[in-house]
Amino acid sequence: MANRTIRIALVGAGGIGRAHRNAWAQVPGAKIAAVVDVDASRAKAMAKELRAKAFADLHEMLRAVEVDAVDVCTPPAFHRAPVEAALAAGRHVICEKPLADKPPSARAMVKAAKAAGKLLMTAFCHRFHPPVARLKELIDEGRFGEIRMFRNRFAGPFAGVEDVWFSNPKVSGGGCLMDTSVHSVDLFRFLCGEVARAEGAGVTVSPKIKPGVEDTAAMMLVSRSGCIGLIEASWVLPAGPNVIEVYGTKGVAFIHYWDGFASRYKTEGMSDFELLPEKGDRFVGELTHFANAVRGTCALTVTGHDGQRAVEVIYEAYRSAGLR
Ligand SMILES: NC(=O)c1ccc[n+]([C@@H]2O[C@H](COP(=O)([O-])OP(=O)(O)OC[C@H]3O[C@@H](n4cnc5c(N)ncnc54)[C@H](O)[C@@H]3O)[C@@H](O)[C@H]2O)c1
Repeated sequence: MANRTIRIALVGAGGIGRAHRNAWAQVPGAKIAAVVDVDASRAKAMAKELRAKAFADLHEMLRAVEVDAVDVCTPPAFHRAPVEAALAAGRHVICEKPLADKPPSARAMVKAAKAAGKLLMTAFCHRFHPPVARLKELIDEGRFGEIRMFRNRFAGPFAGVEDVWFSNPKVSGGGCLMDTSVHSVDLFRFLCGEVARAEGAGVTVSPKIKPGVEDTAAMMLVSRSGCIGLIEASWVLPAGPNVIEVYGTKGVAFIHYWDGFASRYKTEGMSDFELLPEKGDRFVGELTHFANAVRGTCALTVTGHDGQRAVEVIYEAYRSAGLR
């Protein structure tokens, strides 16, 4: 069992579907056996490259192809139906973030996984980014003391966002808080602990985006243990440093994305900063972990519950900002 090939159905052959296709190709002992997309031409094109079967209908695929797991890469409002259908058909599921467009759907999906006795993983890829994974180990070893502050900025221009589903809340569930800060909320929960309180603010800077859909936003979180988190996101302002900063009573860490600065940390007793490892692809790490959990060689470290909590926290921030 430990070495057997895992057969996957990929649902949603768009942008992130292509990133997952590329990552699955690097996961030992995994094969995409079917591709499903409501746009049949997209499903066919990807399936042809992979020598897999193409479907426009998920239920048809579930009847026709023996797969171990389904990888859901559709837009957020279209996560629940394929996730629940796959679980009901006895397949394990990995689902892209945000787990759902609203909390009740996320809770229903978690319940469905429990009822089916199958795995449901939320695809929070940043947990598998090598510097984040190493930082988590160091925190768990106690090297940072008590983590008391966290700051994360993921922001930069998203060209053409006004023309795609990301800025249509009926499909996306919200604006940049739901799309981008859902990753940040998960990183806060992963590194600093469960959220006790969340407040948010969101504005619409671009005249091309519907009022009420935040394209620029911030959140403040407080963990149960009293760690304060500051989260910033924007789809439209010019890019600055995209960073995760962690401040503990005994150390600090800075993780940089896409700006050439080294990710590094310094804890009590160290005379200088040490580098955090950068090598390795977070999508490959994420899918390798899921494949191992499907094989039963490890327990899932990021679940449907994590996806549900992140959506609930985003909603708490929306309510405090008067955006829901
Ligand atoms: N983890 C990350 O860093 C990351 C990055 C980008 C997007 N995402 C997430 O991935 C998901 C998809 O985003 P995207 O950028 O790939 O979108 P996309 O629009 O590029 O692709 C979505 C695909 O899903 C198909 N589709 C829509 N409804 C479907 C259904 N019911 N059944 C089957 N196929 C369906 C569409 O035809 C399209 O091909 C979203 O949840 C998004 O938030 C995650």
